[in-house]
Amino acid sequence: MYTPTASVLVGLAALKGASAWGTLGHATVAAKSVLSDTSTSYLANVASWADTYRSTAAGKFSAPYHFIDANDSPPSSCNVNYARDCTSSGCSISAISNYTQRVADARLSTASTAEALKFLVHLLGDVTQPLHDEALEVGGNDIKVTFDGYANDNLHSDWDTYIPEKKVGGDSLTDAQSWAKTLIASIDSGSYKSLASSWVAKSNINDAVTSATAWASDANALVCTVVMPNGVAALQTGDLYPTYYNKVIPTVELQIAKGGYRLADWLNKIYSANIAKRDLEGQSEELVSRMAMAAPLPPANRPNKAQLAREAYGGGCGCDKHKK
Ligand SMILES: *[C@@H]1O[C@H](CO)[C@@H](O)[C@H](O)[C@H]1NC(C)=O
Repeated sequence: MYTPTASVLVGLAALKGASAWGTLGHATVAAKSVLSDTSTSYLANVASWADTYRSTAAGKFSAPYHFIDANDSPPSSCNVNYARDCTSSGCSISAISNYTQRVADARLSTASTAEALKFLVHLLGDVTQPLHDEALEVGGNDIKVTFDGYANDNLHSDWDTYIPEKKVGGDSLTDAQSWAKTLIASIDSGSYKSLASSWVAKSNINDAVTSATAWASDANALVCTVVMPNGVAALQTGDLYPTYYNKVIPTVELQIAKGGYRLADWLNKIYSANIAKRDLEGQSEELVSRMAMAAPLPPANRPNKAQLAREAYGGGCGCDKHKK
């Protein structure tokens, strides 16, 4: 089964042809190559990998990477504090920082590069889900609710899976892609058009911790205002469908649109900076870009080097400041 949120998100990031929508450009080439998957659903095919991996013995260490436990007090007070909330086992913010560095680290094996990319694809989605940015009741996992006739649901999985699934009308990749198209239309010419640039305003690959903290804070604020504005008990008095569902579904859609848009922008920035950096080191694009190697860009689509150099070095490299 496709987790609708994850595959809609990557559907958003991967679909092209839209003007306001930042297409993945050379990130597509690089990502397809590193993942050894040239199909159009190359990102959707890895969107759920991190959830499978965390439940294996080898991947157990990554379970805390899917969330940050904000120790706040919803609904009266919502806030994320990286120093307070990210434990020594790591969290979504430290993991996004780690894998942002690793995905572009030429010293790593292809398998490690692919792992880093698969984590980024997944975690940039998870961080937009408000209950992945909340400690209360294990991010809502321990809040028993009824949704659409199912009395044994919990609030976290409703936000992760069942609310989006109700909206999208199924759990297939095709369902996800058709929802993604609708959201893209909103970004290109609809109600999201004026908002989209603000979704990536704080996205700076040289300061991934600050960027990911901004995304986590943005989603965490919704715990107070949308997820449980009247507290936990108010969610347990009857079926969340349709009244609660109708109230929250615009926010669910908004968060998924943000996640897809940010992912496309983030991967583009990483790969642009990576190619620019190697150019500045005096090596030719064709030789050095291991990831873009397999399918080099047609010359017309090659990024302007001067522009890429500015992107890569304009703000200075804060690469080492963000290790926990
Ligand atoms: C970074 O990722 C690697 C590979 O998954 C992992 O071994 C390491 O512990 C991570 N470091 C941090 C600080 O998250």
